[in-house]
Amino acid sequence: MKSYQISERVWALHSDIDTDDLFEGIWPIPEGVSLNSYIVKGEKTALIDLVRDWDGAANSLQAGIREAGVDIAKIDYLILNHLEPDHTGWLAEFKARNPGVIIIATAKGIELVKSFYKITEGLRAVKSGDTLDLGGGTGLLFEEAPNVHWPETMMTYCPSSGVLFSCDAFGSYGKLGDRVFDDQFDSAEHELFEKEGLRYYSNIVSSFGIFVKRAIAKMSGHEIKVVAPSHGMIWRKNPMTIIERYSKYASWLDGGRDKEVCVIWGSMYGNTEKGLKAVTDGIESEGVKWVAHRIPNEDVSYVLADAYRCEGIVLAMPTYEYKMFPPMAYVIDILDRKHVWGRQVLRIGSWGWVGGAKKEYEERIAPLKWNPVESVEWAGAPEAATLAQLRERGAELARRVKSAN
Ligand code: FEO
Repeated sequence: MKSYQISERVWALHSDIDTDDLFEGIWPIPEGVSLNSYIVKGEKTALIDLVRDWDGAANSLQAGIREAGVDIAKIDYLILNHLEPDHTGWLAEFKARNPGVIIIATAKGIELVKSFYKITEGLRAVKSGDTLDLGGGTGLLFEEAPNVHWPETMMTYCPSSGVLFSCDAFGSYGKLGDRVFDDQFDSAEHELFEKEGLRYYSNIVSSFGIFVKRAIAKMSGHEIKVVAPSHGMIWRKNPMTIIERYSKYASWLDGGRDKEVCVIWGSMYGNTEKGLKAVTDGIESEGVKWVAHRIPNEDVSYVLADAYRCEGIVLAMPTYEYKMFPPMAYVIDILDRKHVWGRQVLRIGSWGWVGGAKKEYEERIAPLKWNPVESVEWAGAPEAATLAQLRERGAELARRVKSAN
């Protein structure tokens, strides 16, 4: 980790995680991820967010603190915007190096400090509107941002510099290397970060879209010159870009999604795949774009990102032992948990000796409030009449996608 000066009194510290480990134990991060911390110096010094000791992050953090000219033992305040262990896993070790530090979090955050790390002293709970004077004309303002990403989350704002320390909000997967600011990355890198940002949003934050909207509204009263999240690049040239992007993602809960189709498919012996080809021909006949993910070959993390942004979904799967193709059951469960609700959806699939996917499918999708196009199922290989029907259902789905709000 190096330290990067954001303003006269604010420094960014970041550690790149480059590992085969899964983020949250679920999501692959082949492009890595950064863990960002920040130092704000007045007459007193505050460190905002820690790291988990993961892929050398604790050593990087300590090196970054030294580079910023700060003695870890003399940090006055440790501000924990969010207690998830990717930002706090190293807390006990930090406290051992600085027993006198005052730890600041929301009241719910303080409870998590106690339960996760068994620390009971030097704790200060804050709520929205509370401030911390660091002296020398520098201070911090706290705003609770519940459920972005956990209930105890808050954001910290530095009025004198206009830096918003937004924690998980406005973050992204993707390691940073030796640059941290948005104006230091070229357009191809921005394109990758945008993709990884959407995947991060859909994987981590999408269940909490309503809270994302509230947090954005709450922060809109402040002049935000720099967005400094806990993952991903720091937005100093175009801070509104990432705020508007998150605002759009949150709005997809209600509509306005991309008028495209996310095709999620699995096939055991190629018969469902043959039928799917007719469906995608039908979608194309209406001039609608589609993107396909084969399961379980592709990780659900990527499936979720496209399903979250697309108005239309095709689920193509064979019956398997009287029920759904098992990887599809897992995908549908994730789509429900991550609030991929209200989509236009077509289900198709073949069966061998008897069907059975239909009953389980209908039970599973009930909570998602999908708008279904009539399903097509067939025995064995699809015949010409079935293929024609599949093509027409694909076209019908595409028409619904085009006309959706
Ligand atoms: Fe980056 Fe919800 O922790």
